[in-house]
Amino acid sequence: MYRAFFGLQTHPFGVNPDPRFLCMLPHLKEVLACLAYGIRRRKGFVVLTGEVGTGKTTLIKTLLSSLNSGDVATSFVFNPQLEVLDFLEFMMADFGIEVRSRIKSQMLLQLNQWLINRHRLGMTSALIIDEAQDLSLAMLEESGDGNRKAVANRTFGAARTR
Ligand SMILES: Nc1ncnc2c1ncn2[C@@H]1O[C@H](COP(=O)(O)OP(=O)(O)O)[C@@H](O)[C@H]1O
Ligand SMILES: [Mg+2]
Repeated sequence: MYRAFFGLQTHPFGVNPDPRFLCMLPHLKEVLACLAYGIRRRKGFVVLTGEVGTGKTTLIKTLLSSLNSGDVATSFVFNPQLEVLDFLEFMMADFGIEVRSRIKSQMLLQLNQWLINRHRLGMTSALIIDEAQDLSLAMLEESGDGNRKAVANRTFGAARTR
């Protein structure tokens, strides 16, 4: 109805944030540049925080599309309220890794191998966690300290809060 009446190319009131409609305000440009810099330079962990509705998820989606067109592999966890094994499986699958086992040690081994191979080829891998404030304490340990040990800092985590 709106499309026909206003002559719009697409529906204007989508439920999910759509990066195509991002209004790139100056401060958002800076945030995007900082996130991209942190990932490309492998700075480790970057945290983006802000009030609800300030455009964090929309910005992350813009970031993802710019990274995926380069040599950065990304895994975007949009709901981190998962058990450790489910989290690992989701992350690996989203990285494009064919998960061969549901045994944690095997999964970490496979992930580590994959990250090392990419690192050797000079490629970056980025893990982005939306709604990171919902991470359980156990999961926070895994994605932070545990993961850092397991992947020796080759994974980048953009943890963020609402
Ligand atoms: N800079 C922006 N340009 C266009 N739309 C925006 C912008 N910031 C927020 N929005 C819109 O506001 C809504 C909430 O944005 P969202 O990215 O989900 O915020 P957050 O993740 O910070 O809670 C979305 O519909 C989004 O499209
Ligand atoms: Mg959000």
